[in-house]
Amino acid sequence: MFDKLEQINERPSPFQYYTNEELWTNDYTSSKMLEYHLNESIDVASRNRNFINRSVDWIVAHFGVNKDTAIVDFGCGPGLYTIALAERGARVTGIDFSENSIKYARNAASRRDLNIDYVMRNYLEFQTDKTFDLILMIMCDFCALSPDQRATLLSKFRSLMKPGSALLLDVYSLKAFDKKEESATYEFNQLNGFWSDEDYYCFVNIFKYDKEKVVLDKYTIFEPSRERLIFNWLQYYDVDTLDREFKQKGLSIKETFLNVAGDPFSPESEEFAVVAMRS
Ligand SMILES: C[S@@+](CC[C@H](N)C(=O)[O-])C[C@H]1O[C@@H](n2cnc3c(N)ncnc32)[C@H](O)[C@@H]1O
Repeated sequence: MFDKLEQINERPSPFQYYTNEELWTNDYTSSKMLEYHLNESIDVASRNRNFINRSVDWIVAHFGVNKDTAIVDFGCGPGLYTIALAERGARVTGIDFSENSIKYARNAASRRDLNIDYVMRNYLEFQTDKTFDLILMIMCDFCALSPDQRATLLSKFRSLMKPGSALLLDVYSLKAFDKKEESATYEFNQLNGFWSDEDYYCFVNIFKYDKEKVVLDKYTIFEPSRERLIFNWLQYYDVDTLDREFKQKGLSIKETFLNVAGDPFSPESEEFAVVAMRS
């Protein structure tokens, strides 16, 4: 028991283990995630419907989206942005490794007679000869990637862009990092049965890495017949640090906003969004 508790409370080094695939593609948790995505009034997995409508209106106006605009959405989930952008006439590609989400997105597009290219795969491995006018990565998914994965992705973004193309993504800010606190708790059927349809005990350890500006939510889940570990990493940024990371891969930040709906940037906000172009 003591050894097990020590393991549960063990602090790994930043991004030492990566379990995102388990979180998003496990049949049970991804179906729970889909429920969150499709709940139009909450900001879990996807933002609320009102925000998404505002965001799509802003994207269309800000980037001059028309029928010639090629857009790719990395981590498109069930297609809440891809469908709305295709309805505005754009040529849209959506990439996601969640089978549940991509199936939902494909059905929703076909019900609306929209021709959207949905690719079910790990976006770190996405390959194409095409270039895009606009690349999207929405809901701070960039922050969940390790430094190596982010480097891979930024190189990929650059290779998919031509002069004049833009990248729009959002990240968590250092204000949000400051508000995080370390903790160690456990709960029966934590998150209302999110992790399993069987009963379970879930230990949640939150670790802060002050130097790296990284937070880990570590979940150790005990069901009657299995034990699972989920590592949910998040990197927090200020604009300069993000811009330095972009510049190393030939991209540079041109505009900053509060969010992907184009509200004015505030240094007090817990998130911010950037538009980057090839440097
Ligand atoms: C926080 S959700 C955001 C979904 C969508 N962008 C939105 O705002 O409605 C992140 C999405 O990225 C997907 N995802 C995470 N890592 C991925 C990867 N390596 N390859 C493909 N999809 C990934 C997840 O399946 C999930 O649908």
